[in-house]
Amino acid sequence: MKKAILFSLIVLMSVTGLFAEGQKDTDGKIVIGANIYNFQDNFMNGAMKPVLESYAAEKGVEIQIVDSEGQQAILNNQIDIFITRGVNVLAINLVDPASAESVIEKAKRADIPLILFNKEGSKEAMSTYDKVWYVGTDSAESGIIQGQMMVADWNAGVIADKNNDGVLQYVMLKGEPGHPDAEARTRESVKAFTDAGIQVQQLALEADQNWSTQHGNDKTAAWLTSSFGSDIEVIIANNDGMAFGAITAMKAAGVRLPIYGVDALDQALTHIAEGELDGTVLNDGENQAKATIDLAINAAMGKPVTEGTSWVLTTDGSKAVRVAYVAVTPENYEDFRK
Ligand code: BGC
Ligand code: CA
Repeated sequence: MKKAILFSLIVLMSVTGLFAEGQKDTDGKIVIGANIYNFQDNFMNGAMKPVLESYAAEKGVEIQIVDSEGQQAILNNQIDIFITRGVNVLAINLVDPASAESVIEKAKRADIPLILFNKEGSKEAMSTYDKVWYVGTDSAESGIIQGQMMVADWNAGVIADKNNDGVLQYVMLKGEPGHPDAEARTRESVKAFTDAGIQVQQLALEADQNWSTQHGNDKTAAWLTSSFGSDIEVIIANNDGMAFGAITAMKAAGVRLPIYGVDALDQALTHIAEGELDGTVLNDGENQAKATIDLAINAAMGKPVTEGTSWVLTTDGSKAVRVAYVAVTPENYEDFRK
């Protein structure tokens, strides 16, 4: 009886965070309170989450990763709970990039260091707290690389000018409106054509907050049977997940249009091998996850965040570690297989 009471007291104390002096867990480990904006996301769940977990274990720290289910209100609540529990550091994948400022404000009020990853906050938001940093990419770079890959394929005839009008007719699967990656990819991939002196015509563009395969499938199926269906010369997908859906829709319709993605997920490499995807861009989730953990640990220990690592912080006020993108084509995709 006594034992049982003592046990439940200990459980209660550790849940509420009262147990630890300040913040470490019962083994004295650093605790990282983390989330993924949506466990349904192919890239976040498939490429980033497993490495966040395995690399944290390798580094001897505890990471608690919760699913924000695509709702910023859920994430706000999860952050409050992490703060009450007394985690040492937060590693947050915003649901809504526009809420960076209010999330930073929460961390600041609790005086807990914060690493944002994958969805970048504005420089103004980043400037409001000295203990917030960002880990991600240079969003524009993915669009530039994808665009250059498509320009080369247009020049080589892989993307055919089906109606011989000298203009590229495209459809675009954009992803999340307001997400720096989605906005930059949409702009830069098309700009690569115009920079190369090739005219473009957008036949359709669809956005999806969750960048999902289902969305890619539904929109592509609708496009293929629309009045402009036979005019489409390329499908530009701002991530692989949506491209997978588009590929399924094309197969169902017995059509094979040139199609490009971003992320270089394992399934994308398989589609390239099978001649169903013409290219993608490696979004290096493994290194982004490792950088997130490395920075979180240093921040929790009050050290300069990149100390003892090979990561480099930007000096333009974005306080970011940016991991490079790489072109993945039918020529080199084998190099990216895990
Ligand atoms: C990835 C997408 C993913 C998104 C989530 C992007 O960097 O390319 O696949 O859905 O991040 O925020
Ligand atoms: Ca054309």
